[in-house]
Amino acid sequence: MRIAWVLGVGIVFSSGSSAREPTFCRDVAPIVFKHCVSCHRPGQVAPFSLLTFREVKKRASLIRQVVESRSMPPWKPREGYGDFADSRRLTDAQIGVFRRWIELGCPEGSPRDLPPVPEFPGGWQLGRPDVVLKMDRPFMVPAEGSDIYIHFVMPLQIPPGYYLKGIECRPSNPRVAHHAVAIFDHTGTARKLNHAAGGRGYRNAGGPGFVPLSLFPIYVPGRTPRFFPTKAAMPIPPGTDFVLEMHYHSIGKEEVDQTEIGLYLTRQPPTRSMLGVMLSSAEIDIPPGESRYVISDHFELPVDLWADSVWPHMHLIGKEVRAWAELPDGWVERLLWIDDWDFNQQEVYRFRKPIRLPRGTIIRAEWRYDNSEKNPQNPARPPRRVRHGEGSEDEMAVLWLSGEVANESQRQILIQANVDHAWGLMQRGVEFKKGR
Ligand code: HEC
Repeated sequence: MRIAWVLGVGIVFSSGSSAREPTFCRDVAPIVFKHCVSCHRPGQVAPFSLLTFREVKKRASLIRQVVESRSMPPWKPREGYGDFADSRRLTDAQIGVFRRWIELGCPEGSPRDLPPVPEFPGGWQLGRPDVVLKMDRPFMVPAEGSDIYIHFVMPLQIPPGYYLKGIECRPSNPRVAHHAVAIFDHTGTARKLNHAAGGRGYRNAGGPGFVPLSLFPIYVPGRTPRFFPTKAAMPIPPGTDFVLEMHYHSIGKEEVDQTEIGLYLTRQPPTRSMLGVMLSSAEIDIPPGESRYVISDHFELPVDLWADSVWPHMHLIGKEVRAWAELPDGWVERLLWIDDWDFNQQEVYRFRKPIRLPRGTIIRAEWRYDNSEKNPQNPARPPRRVRHGEGSEDEMAVLWLSGEVANESQRQILIQANVDHAWGLMQRGVEFKKGR
């Protein structure tokens, strides 16, 4: 890595060619192994493997295009706006290595320089789970057709006194499994929706079809599963159902998937809570053709919060989302900015270091939608009016900021503020709809 970096700087910033010229084995392979093969290897989501010299060389010019345009590796947040732990972004120097190597005609170099090819052990990455849930039968993904969003409802039986400390999701077929979301439902709604749909999973593209207790992405291609932050285990009330939202993608031939979920439990009660602040708006009514429809929300923190991750959510015609925090001393903390939203690349973005937001901080979020014909992601041709809702045809505006508070009383204060905020949002949403 280090060599590639030094060399890349030499290429980018010096006019002379005193730096060693890059070879595959010494300079390119370390970048590809670190940043590409988590997805580009046999059986994974990407359409071809990049594990060997020949495989990389064969696609060299396409690779140059996608790394220069930064469409690969997939990474949405804009550089310099929020600082994230798992950034996949290549440095300018790394892009320079690809460029120069391809200009030189893709020299292989000496196999002695080749780092070990990374290994991807099968099995559970987090160790043996305490509870394994499995889709009760394989799901068939047809060869062709639009993406499928389907919810499988699995009853949970967590013994009292246990808390959830982690979830691992293992699709049996990562070529078609695009992403997965875990939803906890203690209201019985998912169960009813499933029953109404015949008991084999119910379809709904924009979300589970109701507002759940909690939900979070558990599977994103190329991402290693992780335990919840230390000490932040989650209680699971009796009667809760686990709802597995799967997003499948056809690949030109019929495929089946039967995803397994591993739940990891602990008896250690949480000493802190993963607590979120939810910003949102139901005041969405986007006329057809409108390309810059902007809505916003804000939330004033009643207690200090150490924010550790942010999760934005919109549906298909969402284009841009930005969040920032205005601290009482006037400092503006930039949290996240995505300006080419892609519904299929949703992630929880974890900050490199928790961000301290003192009481009195105002958190702001802004969402933009493009309901014009020019938006290639717009499923409606011609565009039609789009309103707030859970369905695939509707839009949503959500941003969760998760973090930690100092103690139980602060936690209660923040929960109440969230409830009040959500209530206000709902009422304004209802008024807004009436006025239309
Ligand atoms: C997180 C998973 C992931 C990572 C990491 C990743 N890719 Fe991809 N790549 C994909 C997927 C999925 C596709 C298929 C196209 C799509 O769905 O966007 C793809 C497509 C491509 C394509 C074809 C683009 C086209 O227009 O046909 C190239 C070239 C490519 N990737 C190169 C790379 C390189 C080089 C890296 C590392 C520097 C990389 N990718 C890292 C998932 C990934």
